Amino acid sequence: MSREQISAIAHADHPIKSPLADESVGRLLERGLPRGDERVLDLGCGTAEWLLRALATRPHLHAEGVDVSEVSLTRARRAASELGVADRLVLHQQEAADFGSPRPYDLVISVGATHAFGGLLPTLAAARKHLAPGGRVLIGESYWDRAPSPEAVEMFGDLADLATTVDSVVADGWTPVHGHVSTRSELDSYEWACWGSLAAWALDHPADPAAAQVLETATAARSDWLHGYRDSFGFLCLVLRRTAV
Ligand SMILES: C[S@@+](CC[C@H](N)C(=O)[O-])C[C@H]1O[C@@H](n2cnc3c(N)ncnc32)[C@H](O)[C@@H]1O
Repeated sequence: MSREQISAIAHADHPIKSPLADESVGRLLERGLPRGDERVLDLGCGTAEWLLRALATRPHLHAEGVDVSEVSLTRARRAASELGVADRLVLHQQEAADFGSPRPYDLVISVGATHAFGGLLPTLAAARKHLAPGGRVLIGESYWDRAPSPEAVEMFGDLADLATTVDSVVADGWTPVHGHVSTRSELDSYEWACWGSLAAWALDHPADPAAAQVLETATAARSDWLHGYRDSFGFLCLVLRRTAV
């Protein structure tokens, strides 16, 4: 079974691929989309869950998503048709860093995808290029809540702590106008949803040739989380505006 197929099963009960409750996602979208008729771009949109939620509740919104994953974009297109919002959603299968558009956007979203640009500040630099005057950015990034184990650093790279992360964004010329720090409950719910869905799938499909591989993946991922990064990993979302100079 491919990584993308495994990821689709893992996210069956948690379609937003970040540790956020539905209410947190809703509040972040409200702060990012104060009017409801904005043009929105999501860089690293995955199955476009953020855009689908924004479009479904705002009939005058237009959205575009960029992702390298054909599997995710196919699912996004199908979901958009089912929700009746396909005529207001354009999806681009390409590297997010290579995406260009002649028209700017009122909101640029990038949640859990800063690795596509090589980090938080390069992601903000890319978002800035797409932003209309007065526009906003909704960004989601990991940070260390406590000193990480060497295994955690190997998995997630060299993250900063929460205050340092926000300081670096402010020093880069942005002002946070809203923020959300994922709670312990959101972080744990996300991990249980992912590894629980995978394990349940394996137990429900014992005759499938991939069952053993899927169960092994779920067991290893759950163990990495509990032994490796549960105590140190944090996740932050910010709604940002350019700081006036
Ligand atoms: C953790 S998922 C987040 C998806 C979505 N933003 C969400 O919150 O549900 C990261 C996404 O980034 C995409 N991605 C990774 N590298 C990329 C790149 N270089 N260009 C575009 N998308 C990329 C992956 O395919 C994946 O869909």
